[in-house]
Amino acid sequence: MQHFAIVTFGCQMNQHDSDRIGEVLRAAGLSEVSEPAAADFVLLNTCSVREKAEQKLRSEVGRLGVLKRERPGLVIGVAGCVAQQEGERLMKKLPQIDLMIGPDNIPELPALLADCVSGGPPRVRTEFDVDAPSFLAHSSAHGPSEGRSPSAFVTVMKGCNERCSFCIVPYTRGPERYRPGREILDEIVQLTETGVREVTLLGQTVNSYSDPGALFAPPRHEAASDWQHTERERARADESEFPELLRAIARQAPRLSRLRYTSPHPRHLTRSLIRAHAELGVLCRHVHMPVQSGSDRLLKRMIRRYTAAEYLERVTALKTAVPGLTLSTDIIVGFPGESRVDFEQTLDLVERAGFVGVFAFKYSERPFTPALKLGDDVSEVEKSARLAELFEVSNAQRQAYLSSLEGADVEVLVEGRGKAGQWGGRSERNEIVHFASPYELLGRLVRVRVLRANKNSLFGELAQAVDDAVLSSAVPLATTGAKELAGPAAAKPLRRLPLSPV
Ligand code: 5AD
Repeated sequence: MQHFAIVTFGCQMNQHDSDRIGEVLRAAGLSEVSEPAAADFVLLNTCSVREKAEQKLRSEVGRLGVLKRERPGLVIGVAGCVAQQEGERLMKKLPQIDLMIGPDNIPELPALLADCVSGGPPRVRTEFDVDAPSFLAHSSAHGPSEGRSPSAFVTVMKGCNERCSFCIVPYTRGPERYRPGREILDEIVQLTETGVREVTLLGQTVNSYSDPGALFAPPRHEAASDWQHTERERARADESEFPELLRAIARQAPRLSRLRYTSPHPRHLTRSLIRAHAELGVLCRHVHMPVQSGSDRLLKRMIRRYTAAEYLERVTALKTAVPGLTLSTDIIVGFPGESRVDFEQTLDLVERAGFVGVFAFKYSERPFTPALKLGDDVSEVEKSARLAELFEVSNAQRQAYLSSLEGADVEVLVEGRGKAGQWGGRSERNEIVHFASPYELLGRLVRVRVLRANKNSLFGELAQAVDDAVLSSAVPLATTGAKELAGPAAAKPLRRLPLSPV
């Protein structure tokens, strides 16, 4: 057993898990190949949040099954949410699978794999680590100094205590468990020492964070009563230690240039969190805040625990406190009972909140979720029509926003080579930006003048005024003899990251 390949479906949490799985397997002596056809062990890291994601797994296992008939030694593993959700049931349906491992059992993977290789029976390990939660951190080899991306994910919590009626995540990822603040801070400081400039804090409801090690002062419950739409008791319950965590990161990791988080729950978008946004320069002026619907009737059926007015009040307060901040969101269309009027309320909210990015999905029934009881009464045709209508509105908003940036300078963190050898990176507000330069700029923050807005990205050129400082320290590729950058960050084309973690 020498070579492994990981195929990742789904959210950033899964991408982060896959990266950590890769490290665990490398530490066990295996080496990674990008093509499953060249691997002895293929691990499918799965997502089950929507029906489509699960279907992808089935077709992938089918394809690998063909490979396995030619090479019976090939080991096929399934990790992630489908493994957690289906366990042995799936193994019975798809006997090509040799092992299944849940998100909390990743450290056990080398031992399970060794069992399989020595002829042991198929193995399933899907235990939640509720009593002694552990969080996978980056190995020390990370960041631009290792030829890796200057942007890293850091888990701060896992699991979910919300009970949104459509969502399978509480079932596949278990109850909320928080990572000790000390561990989070140490990992971030260490990442910045290898050149990481941007960190995205990860968690299913990332802003419900509280520190199990009591590192932070209790939240101040500031001005909880001045939300017009939320009674005082509820506003208090929404307070968390997340703003304190952000402040501690800003203080203790001074080399960090950008801090993001995903995905927050709107009810924990509190006054204290808004104040942290206003005060901490390191926090990016972009927030992805899933709303799901603009209809109060549906929000109630979804068990989201806020109204459309509360959502709008909170995001408006955030935008007022941080001028120029942009918002993106997740929306479900065709949730059980969604009428034309409900849907129009969603369109209205999209306009009023001024989202510059909308990730919209057709409702699909998920096993074990409370919404199963509500049926699935919006026809597929109607769901598709609403999705298209919603995209028409949101794409127009996005286009108008991106076009408004033409001629402006944006600060770009260079993450790797994009299309046609151009450099690619993200602006502070998470726009994808491409530009041409012969210089080695991986991991650098550069100013780029926007020349053109494409459908989902910006194209520009290095802005001369800032360029000089960059060029004095950058090495032209020609002098190093390198045509392309070495290392994984260079090899991978820049992907458009989904913004939502579940
Ligand atoms: N059907 C459709 N979309 C869903 N999502 C979660 N569960 C479902 C479901 N059953 C969407 C939500 C969430 C995003 C990650 O996936 O919008 O925010």
